[in-house]
Amino acid sequence: MSKLKVVGGIPLRGEIAVHGSKNAALPILAATVLFPEPVELTNCPELADVRHMLALLEELGCRIRQQGDRVEVDPRGITCTELRTDITRRLRSSLFLLGPLLSRFHEAAAVYPGGCDIGRRPIDLHLQGLRLLGAEIEEREGRIYCRTAGLKGTDIQLDYPSVGATENLIMAACIAQGVTRIINGACEPEIVTLCEFLNRGGFSVTGAGTPQITIRGGGEGRSIRYEIPADRIVAGTYLAAGAITGGEIFVRNAPVKELTAPLNKLREAGCLIREERVGVYLKGPKRPRELKKIETRPYPGFPTDLQSQFFALCTVARGTSLIVENVFENRFVHGEELQKMGALCHIRGDMAVIRGVKSLHGADLTAHDLRGGAALVLAGLRAEGMTRIEGAQRIDRGYVRLEEALSALGGRVTREPPEANV
Ligand code: EPZ
Repeated sequence: MSKLKVVGGIPLRGEIAVHGSKNAALPILAATVLFPEPVELTNCPELADVRHMLALLEELGCRIRQQGDRVEVDPRGITCTELRTDITRRLRSSLFLLGPLLSRFHEAAAVYPGGCDIGRRPIDLHLQGLRLLGAEIEEREGRIYCRTAGLKGTDIQLDYPSVGATENLIMAACIAQGVTRIINGACEPEIVTLCEFLNRGGFSVTGAGTPQITIRGGGEGRSIRYEIPADRIVAGTYLAAGAITGGEIFVRNAPVKELTAPLNKLREAGCLIREERVGVYLKGPKRPRELKKIETRPYPGFPTDLQSQFFALCTVARGTSLIVENVFENRFVHGEELQKMGALCHIRGDMAVIRGVKSLHGADLTAHDLRGGAALVLAGLRAEGMTRIEGAQRIDRGYVRLEEALSALGGRVTREPPEANV
């Protein structure tokens, strides 16, 4: 268990570069199972979740070579199609392996995946889609057993544009026979990235970024090198840190086009924003203005993964803000922690009403989930005095050494004990 210590009251200044995207890297790593030859990834973020995914691939029989952010996956040695229980329980995105394993090896097994405690996180859409493609799926004693004589392309209408289900089904359809159309699929940038990776690797996917995605099955796959794009949620987190501290920062590599909704909210809060080709310049106000209403929605709506960071920003705004969390059922857990710092927020169901206060005070807190933990760090950067945050290993799931990134901007953030949690 590691802990972060934050001393607040210092406006952030300077430039920070954004590392590779966790939510782009994880499905792409799962997709390497579809390839008959080694695949090389660059700018692959050195995160706990990525290490867990690589461990799963190794357990299946893949040969992994890693040097910093360069990762090579050689899937030629896969001999097993059953996912390791202890990792699968902790890593929800292990689910992304079901589709590719089924598609290429006609079988796959796993326990129900775990992940952050932000909601029930069912997997019905994944399983419904795989069944439509011709998989027989048995669920017994908490485990999922899948097998098929060979997946066959078909139309799949998703009841909800689930990011993971869309990714899983695209990968499953790549080697299936015939054409698959996913209707009401997710439009997130990570879907576009996955499909770009698959197309460069010899598969055939069109419509990525729109709700209708078409996959021509029977693909072969060929060895490629692919660069993971910058992480839009990490970029948004750094920008929110600049805003809450009234700082002046430049976030290099921020994927500006993927940040329209959060950037508009930062402008509404009184930030001066300059969108440049290689990043975003932000100058935060002394005290942010309230955000009348934030509603999280599937992309291109306001991203649920930035909700908690903007919640923290609202706690010190001049006025009352409203946040509606439409994607997950339990994603306000950070509210209770922020109240320990003097935040005034009232949470009922999917709504949070936040009355901004002039200042927060440091406190001893716990990070209960990845993005909620990041929100506590941001609040600590603004608060008077010291904030200690238990559970920093949860923050490490999505941020590469967050304490170093914020310290590079002049923030006083340190970790105890010094090494990040593996
Ligand atoms: C992905 O999770 C991301 N994770 C999440 O980021 C992100 O919050 C989420 O998409 C939404 O954008 C990765 O990409 C690894 P969903 P995923 O399936 O795929 C319901 C982070 O902080 N649902 O789009 O699990 C589900 O319960 C993480 O980086 C079903 O009902 O999200 C939720 O309410 C957190 N049945 C909603 O859909 C299903 O079969 C959105 O889930 C699947 C999902």
